[in-house]
Amino acid sequence: MPHKIIIDTDPGIDDAMAIAYAIAHPDIELLALTTIFGNVRTHEATRNALALLEHWGATADVAEGESAPVAITANEPGYLVHGRNGFGGVEIAASSRPAHDLDAAQYMIEATRRHPGEITLCAVGPLTNLARALERDPDIVSRVKAVVVMGGAVHRKGNVTPVAEANFWNDPHAADAVLGAGWPLVLAPLDCTMPVLFTPDYMEAVARENPKLGKPLSEMAAAYSRFYRSHLGLGGCVPHDVMAISWLTVPGAFRLQKGALAVIADGPAIGQCIFQPGGTKSRATIFDGRPDHLVMVDTDPALFLADFMAVMTRHAA
Ligand code: RIB
Ligand code: CA
Repeated sequence: MPHKIIIDTDPGIDDAMAIAYAIAHPDIELLALTTIFGNVRTHEATRNALALLEHWGATADVAEGESAPVAITANEPGYLVHGRNGFGGVEIAASSRPAHDLDAAQYMIEATRRHPGEITLCAVGPLTNLARALERDPDIVSRVKAVVVMGGAVHRKGNVTPVAEANFWNDPHAADAVLGAGWPLVLAPLDCTMPVLFTPDYMEAVARENPKLGKPLSEMAAAYSRFYRSHLGLGGCVPHDVMAISWLTVPGAFRLQKGALAVIADGPAIGQCIFQPGGTKSRATIFDGRPDHLVMVDTDPALFLADFMAVMTRHAA
């Protein structure tokens, strides 16, 4: 039975990698992309989502999301990391297809009403759309099959501040609401993404075997890697968002912990994700009444890389 998924996304170079993997994977049915600000502005994310799907011949819907965080003033988009066009300057022809009539939150609400218990929401940007969907229709928590979120840093330092990861920092109130809700949720924080590196050689191999999907990704990865080399001295780039999809398809590549999660919504630690292991108690009342969720705290890079390569090059077989 394929995984029916909606990817909530701010494409974004690693978002594009996740979308390509979802399109290529035989066990995934990509129903829609819902767009959000973060790496770019929301209308730019919508433009990019439509362009990627057209370029790769995929027919998933695109529903535009919220243009601002639920409470804080929006931060500047991540143009420094993903380039002014969100693809590291790589040109992908614009699509003439319009976005869906429904906004992102309404699309999630209505899709889960049509397919109760069947849809997994894979959120790889700020969580504003999911928070809005929760606000409008709290029963969505019982209609989703699961929610997988790329965001946060649990036992590692952040990537936009010493404690905050970009997706949670860009809308901490939304992240806290999503992690505090009672839906079946798996978190893919920097703990499971940072151990993996897409090197130029690896991405060139993907491009050689599957030019349609791989060539644009390899060119985007080259730009993304320049940021990782200059800021972190790494020899490649980190495919953060792919983990939110590969949790569904190669779960054995990840080590898990279970516990309650919360996100700090103001002050110098704004955007920090805090974690209390399941079955433990503490004086931190913020965790009172919160459900335990699964957290992907580590990754076997060899398993993950082998799977991504196999999926992305299967069409070449
Ligand atoms: O911190 C990494 C996350 O922020 C990824 O989703 C990346 O695309 C950016 O949105
Ligand atoms: Ca993203």
